[in-house]
Amino acid sequence: MTQMNRREFVAAMACAACMCGLGGATELLADAPATGAGLDVGPKSNYTADGITDTWMKAPNKVAVIRHAGRIYAISTVCTHRGAIINAENNSTFECPRHHATYDIAGNVTKGPAKVAMVHYAISVNGDGNIIVDKTKSFTATQWDDPNSFVKVD
Ligand code: FES
Repeated sequence: MTQMNRREFVAAMACAACMCGLGGATELLADAPATGAGLDVGPKSNYTADGITDTWMKAPNKVAVIRHAGRIYAISTVCTHRGAIINAENNSTFECPRHHATYDIAGNVTKGPAKVAMVHYAISVNGDGNIIVDKTKSFTATQWDDPNSFVKVD
């Protein structure tokens, strides 16, 4: 290999490394919240009945909004086993289409192979009365009573 060829080789490797890095960044951007201010999932007054709102479950948002047990909360829809997007079942449970793990309405595992519950995202009501989901802050199962992880309903 000549000196010039060696330089070209190094430049090509650096470029390949850049492209790999860019690919990773693109995936991260796809997981970012819909806006810098969080995902607006509509007026709190829309959530009048218990159940799962599946409007934002698929990419790019990957969020299910739940009204249950006097709370509204938002869970990740990314299966904790190997990352498939879960489906809502019967407005009260979730099932992963890839290896069929199941979760209850709060995101607790009810059947493996998944072993870890879904995360909940930070959620709040803005000045217009709309519910905002902040995917930059998440709560594991032991943190689901944190007041930032749910909105109370009357
Ligand atoms: S990816 Fe969901 S059960 Fe395997």
